[in-house]
Amino acid sequence: MTTAGGDSVTLRFRGEEHAFPLVEGTEGELAIDIKDLRSRTGLITLDPGFANTGSCNSAITFIDGEKGILRYRGYPIDVLARHSSFLEVAWLLIHGELPSRDELDGFIDRVTHHTMLHQDFGRFFSALPKAAHPMPVCAAAVGALATFYQEPESEQKVQESIVRLIAKMPTIAAYSYKHSLGQPNMFPRNHLDYSSNFLRMMFATPCAEYEIDPVVAKTLDMLLVLHADHEQNCSTSTVRMVGSSKANLFASISSGISALWGSLHGGANQKVIVMLEQIAAEDGSADRFLQRAKDKDDTTRLMGFGHRVYKNYDPRAAILKEACSEVISRLGASSELLEIAMRLEEIVLADEYFIERRLYPNVDFYSGVIYKAIGFPVDMFTVLFAMGRLPGWIAQWLEMRRDPAFRIGRPRQVYTGATERGYDSKVGLRSAGAQV
Ligand code: SDX
Repeated sequence: MTTAGGDSVTLRFRGEEHAFPLVEGTEGELAIDIKDLRSRTGLITLDPGFANTGSCNSAITFIDGEKGILRYRGYPIDVLARHSSFLEVAWLLIHGELPSRDELDGFIDRVTHHTMLHQDFGRFFSALPKAAHPMPVCAAAVGALATFYQEPESEQKVQESIVRLIAKMPTIAAYSYKHSLGQPNMFPRNHLDYSSNFLRMMFATPCAEYEIDPVVAKTLDMLLVLHADHEQNCSTSTVRMVGSSKANLFASISSGISALWGSLHGGANQKVIVMLEQIAAEDGSADRFLQRAKDKDDTTRLMGFGHRVYKNYDPRAAILKEACSEVISRLGASSELLEIAMRLEEIVLADEYFIERRLYPNVDFYSGVIYKAIGFPVDMFTVLFAMGRLPGWIAQWLEMRRDPAFRIGRPRQVYTGATERGYDSKVGLRSAGAQV
């Protein structure tokens, strides 16, 4: 990040001129540095949803929403999705460079040997209702990890927490699912790779050997790579905000899981399947869905479409769309939902309303079709998103904590409430000024 060749912008206010420096990112993005706007002018900015506000400098992920570009630490997402692995990408996001063979082997070994949960966690899950959605279960379980590791924060303890989180998240996710079924938990196995271990913990039972399909395991690993980071989205900004108060990593990640659950964010992937199944059940309701999504008086959104940053095809959606067909044909799963999704995409991308608003399929539009083909229950879809996003949240949290400009996050507001008034209780309480 450099100042843009001394360029600045001038704000003219009440007869005075105030110059504010421009800063330029490595991809040529420009921003006005307003960190002393209020102290110099008394003014603040107002930007609901922060659509025009940069919260930080970051070197982790670059998105060009106009061109549909996504890179992790400079590497294009399609290259990483096709050639890398989730744990290699996790290392890349967290450390900034691809690992050496020894670094990756050491990281895999540490993660593999931290996959088990403390035995007391058994009581934790059994205390929760079986019908509980797994997202609040995972958010609570990740927050509860802080109760098992309460040593004072240090660089070494943070590194240990990073390994524990990445190692235990699949175990927590699988155990939340097994709890909902009333089935016994399946312990992680150290000879399995990350995604295979998760599939076995999810779908195996003590009654029979579980055969892991290597294509499914590789596809799941790619899905985790595709979700691994996405710059300053809602849940990542939440992780940064919570971490900015010096809350520990477990608490910060737990807050990110909760933010991701929202249907406008990570929760959209399960809403997409509900929408596709509804269209399948009520043949021809795609048009009705479209009409409702376009109706100003109707809050219906076409789930899986639109994005705050992408005003072009989400590159992750393109990769997922391609992967759908391979997994479905490999597993002999029904292609009905995929066909409906592709037909819906075709109709939408030709519709003036969506063209005008530059609404394209996002990462959530096709991911659920694959998750369902693999056999995951719909309620687990957003948990899978959280598993993928975990290293990105961690990398962003570390960058925030190590930023020389680090400060606790505390936005301002424009107050629109009542101005000062006398205490006029309607229930006859002591009147203001009465002797108590
Ligand atoms: C993720 O930020 C990230 O990076 C997120 C994410 C990540 O990896 O972390 O990419 C993951 O969250 C993907 C998005 C998943 N959510 C959905 O699929 C839900 C459906 N999409 C929307 O609700 C919406 O598009 C958002 C929330 C994704 C973006 O909302 P914005 O940027 O605030 O856009 P907006 O609501 O201002 O919409 C602009 C216009 C509006 O119409 P007008 O008022 O201008 O007439 O587009 C319309 C909206 O009504 N619109 C939609 C629509 N999305 C936007 N209309 C119908 N269906 C939709 N899906």
